[in-house]
Amino acid sequence: MATPKALLLAVLGCACFFSAILAARELSDDSAMVVKHERWMAQYNRVYMNDVEKAQRFEVFKANVKFIESFNAASNRKFWLGINQFADLTNDEFRATKTNKGFHPSMARGPTGFRYENVSIDALPMTVDWRAKGAVTPIKNQGQCGCCWAFSAVAAMEGIVKISTGKLFSLSEQELVDCDINGESQGCDGGEMDDAFKFIIKNGGLANESSYPYIAQDGKCKRYKNVATIKGYEDVPANDEAALMKAVANQPVSVAVDGGDRTFQFYSGGVMSGSCGTDLDHGIAAIGYGTASDGTKYWLMKNSWGTTWGENGFLRMEKGIPDKSGMCGLAMQPSYPTE
Ligand SMILES: *[C@@H]1O[C@H](CO)[C@@H](O)[C@H](O)[C@H]1NC(C)=O
Ligand SMILES: *[C@@H]1O[C@H](CO)[C@@H](O)[C@H](O)[C@H]1NC(C)=O
Repeated sequence: MATPKALLLAVLGCACFFSAILAARELSDDSAMVVKHERWMAQYNRVYMNDVEKAQRFEVFKANVKFIESFNAASNRKFWLGINQFADLTNDEFRATKTNKGFHPSMARGPTGFRYENVSIDALPMTVDWRAKGAVTPIKNQGQCGCCWAFSAVAAMEGIVKISTGKLFSLSEQELVDCDINGESQGCDGGEMDDAFKFIIKNGGLANESSYPYIAQDGKCKRYKNVATIKGYEDVPANDEAALMKAVANQPVSVAVDGGDRTFQFYSGGVMSGSCGTDLDHGIAAIGYGTASDGTKYWLMKNSWGTTWGENGFLRMEKGIPDKSGMCGLAMQPSYPTE
């Protein structure tokens, strides 16, 4: 029979034993995470200044991986998250990056016509994907330059040029970054799609991507041969997803969204749904719409964060939500160039 003292020792010993197991488990958890972090650093060519920075970034990486894993483990998700190039940034840091911050909301959008106002909603196709019509160039990557507005405007322009001329040109965002500096747009410090359209009209078009390549920083304005142009632009009536649908059925459209949420930072696939902000800070392009297999309606979007983000660089966002401003404010300020 055990004496009380022996019993106490056994219990303590047990506790020690278990906490040792727990500590070991935590350690092996951490060492698995260290390996994950190392692999991620290699994959995204991330180099830290020193061990202090690396240790700090590791903690952020670990917290993000845990957030992503627990988000994905919850049931009834229409979309999921993944460990992408933003995995060592806190959400506050991500919001402050130029990659995310680049769209300056327009104070006053001048009245424009809306050529699709009398299009019948019932006559529109159920599904639209401008990629299938060859009107969308491959995913581009803006890098650490806040010129999402240029990528958004160029994506919409590439679309209407293909639709009206039959030719798909990859056009120069860098020309907008360098040369559209006398209006509201400020290169890598942010800008506006309508302002880009105004510049392109005045400039008589844009150069080829290959002749005026992207360098992800502000540069001196250069002049190359314009290969395509637009004649005007129009704003889609604000906060009206039915109007947006009429426009997107006819051509790719520039849209501004709030791209700062943690779920936006790590979006990896599915139809983004649920709560999202409306603090417009990012420009993308609506290139279609459709219905997912579970019946959720979505907008198909082209982003400019490379192919390691989202669905190979693309994004689907829930369409027709009760909030009139749309998912992440997507219905607030859409616009498109005209031929
Ligand atoms: C739409 O229809 C109305 C009424 O017939 C007409 O006044 C308006 O000009 C039309 N809009 C366009 C863009 O054709
Ligand atoms: C523009 O670039 C495309 C593909 O890069 C090329 O086929 C085309 O010839 C170029 N056009 C001009 C006018 O330079």
